[in-house]
Amino acid sequence: MVIRRMWKRCCLAQDRDLMCHIKTGFVLLVALTLSLSIIYFFYNFSLNPVKDPHNWFNLLNQSYNVVTEGLSGKKFVWNFVSNQQIIQTTTAQKNNISVHHHVAHPSNYHFILDEPDKCSQNPFLVLMVPVAPHQVDARNAIRSTWGTESSVQGKAVLTLFLVGLTGGPEAQQQLEEESRQHRDLVQSNFVDSYFNLTIKTMVIMDWLATRCPQANFSMKVDSDMYINMENLMSLLLAPNTPRQNYITGFLMWNQNVIRDKKSKYYVSEELYPESKYPTYVLGVGYVFSNDLPKKVVEASKDMKPFNIEDAYVGTCLKRLGIKPSRAPDPSQFRTYMKDSKGHDLSKVITTIARSPNQIIEFWQKVKRHK
Ligand SMILES: *[C@@H]1O[C@H](CO)[C@@H](O)[C@H](O)[C@H]1NC(C)=O
Ligand SMILES: *[C@@H]1O[C@H](CO)[C@@H](O)[C@H](O)[C@H]1NC(C)=O
Ligand SMILES: *[C@@H]1O[C@H](CO)[C@@H](O)[C@H](O)[C@H]1NC(C)=O
Ligand SMILES: *[C@@H]1O[C@H](CO)[C@@H](O)[C@H](O)[C@H]1NC(C)=O
Repeated sequence: MVIRRMWKRCCLAQDRDLMCHIKTGFVLLVALTLSLSIIYFFYNFSLNPVKDPHNWFNLLNQSYNVVTEGLSGKKFVWNFVSNQQIIQTTTAQKNNISVHHHVAHPSNYHFILDEPDKCSQNPFLVLMVPVAPHQVDARNAIRSTWGTESSVQGKAVLTLFLVGLTGGPEAQQQLEEESRQHRDLVQSNFVDSYFNLTIKTMVIMDWLATRCPQANFSMKVDSDMYINMENLMSLLLAPNTPRQNYITGFLMWNQNVIRDKKSKYYVSEELYPESKYPTYVLGVGYVFSNDLPKKVVEASKDMKPFNIEDAYVGTCLKRLGIKPSRAPDPSQFRTYMKDSKGHDLSKVITTIARSPNQIIEFWQKVKRHK
């Protein structure tokens, strides 16, 4: 239309023949560029969900964020807001995490195996052990050692294992059989992987907050840990130990965020912009007053998740204004033992064991020395 009118207007005048063809050509060029851009737009923005295990924002059905990949290979993060509006946020979730459904928030998950009545006996202390579904040996080692100690210094103690999804129906059947036998498994519907440990921890917090709010203290403890229950209980019963807003363990001060992409502790600036973490408690084993799980779950709604679970809990605590406490004797929260002699083991609260068998070995040594 425009082109023809333009052609008529100028090209019928003979003398300006050349100029007019240049002008028409220019308009045609603009039109061509425009249509190419439109084609490019649809080409790129056709909604191809990206399967990227290291992307925190495309993992959930319920999540409002969808990552799409154009045919050209470009990636886009779409933020679906509740009124069906689509907002493109290429730098994912810039300032506003109003979405209560970010990937690590426990409201996104449900329990497949549960023990909702476990806490009816009002335990004093609950130990929650995140473990991979296939790690039966680790669970059995704990069940036969510190996990059997259901009453310590007259206080009721409960030990439960938290797992994610298994690899398939056969593994699931075995797990359910194990659950019937021991009644100590809680399973949630996220894919169980190293990268999802933050989800696991938040699901543990959720379980404690919803199934066991009456417990006095709880502990998140890895499946490769030796726990000296007597010493742990003495710490918790000590008159100076706060009953609220309390968390202790192996403190991590002034830790730099790892920006080396090759490291398994790598965290992008997008997920965590500051260069240091707030003081947090090393994830191998931390004890806390049981008012914290509910508070941490609540605080996490507004905290962008990242894959370092203990540092993430630290950032949630910082938001709550809660500082991890130094243990009265910090050397009781060990990571490694210099020598594994019984008399050293009898002083610690936690230490890492090299294998399920070493958990048994440590536990027996301490029992023998008593
Ligand atoms: C996610 O979506 C798939 C199909 O798109 C469905 O089978 C599955 O149950 C959904 N998961 C959840 C947790 O809603
Ligand atoms: C985030 O955005 C929503 C609306 O999209 C708003 O209601 C909420 O207050 C915002 N939250 C923050 C922390 O800015
Ligand atoms: C968990 O991790 C795996 C692989 O690291 C990933 O494929 C999966 O989507 C993650 N998230 C959830 C919610 O399962
Ligand atoms: C444990 O918590 C209950 C309240 O849930 C409280 O009555 C009790 O005194 C606490 N026990 C100890 C030993 O602090």
